[in-house]
Amino acid sequence: MIRLKKGLRKEDYQTLFEFYRDVDTIKYFRIADKLMKFSSAGEMKRHFDSTGGLKLFGIYQNKDFIGYLVLNKDEIGIYLGKKYNGKGHGTDAMKLFLNKLFKQGFKKIKLDTCTENKHAICLYEKIGFRIVKKTKNDRKILVKKGNKWISKKSGSIYFEIKRKEFSK
Ligand SMILES: CC(C)(COP(=O)(O)OP(=O)(O)OC[C@H]1O[C@@H](n2cnc3c(N)ncnc32)[C@H](O)[C@@H]1OP(=O)(O)O)[C@@H](O)C(=O)NCCC(=O)NCCS
Repeated sequence: MIRLKKGLRKEDYQTLFEFYRDVDTIKYFRIADKLMKFSSAGEMKRHFDSTGGLKLFGIYQNKDFIGYLVLNKDEIGIYLGKKYNGKGHGTDAMKLFLNKLFKQGFKKIKLDTCTENKHAICLYEKIGFRIVKKTKNDRKILVKKGNKWISKKSGSIYFEIKRKEFSK
């Protein structure tokens, strides 16, 4: 069973730091080059704390921390550790989160990803998000060249979902 909890515990930051060591899981994030350079869970936590407006929600499968959702105004994001991918947890967590936000009074929720992130695009469309805008070459992602990660330009896809469009 998937549960959400506001805020991350100290040990969750440690687990997240270990998840982030697998660059493949963060390569599509706008700040991937920054995330891959954290030298400790403490440094990573300080970065999250310093961003002010970001609200983190831990995703737990039974008692295990498996990833997080993030809310910034009316925009959200999701991240799961590699071993928890492809099992329906992203769908379950996202539905729980949208249900919670819409109950709290949000009328519309937005998110975006890069054009390469086919898995995330599938998830968002499956849940009912609509594409509202596509752009070209407005962000950077990481790609592997030999055994090195290098930056590459990518496009973005912007999505939104209205409360009345969301069915649990
Ligand atoms: C994107 C992410 C949240 C998806 O979560 P998930 O739990 O793996 O997704 P689900 O298992 O619920 O699958 C959702 C849909 O994606 C599709 N999908 C599953 N595995 C896929 C894959 N390897 N490639 C492409 N699409 C895939 C399927 O359509 C699936 O729905 P279905 O099983 O009903 O057909 C997760 O992979 C993740 O955290 N990735 C790293 C961080 C990231 O990219 N976050 C988004 C940045 S904007």
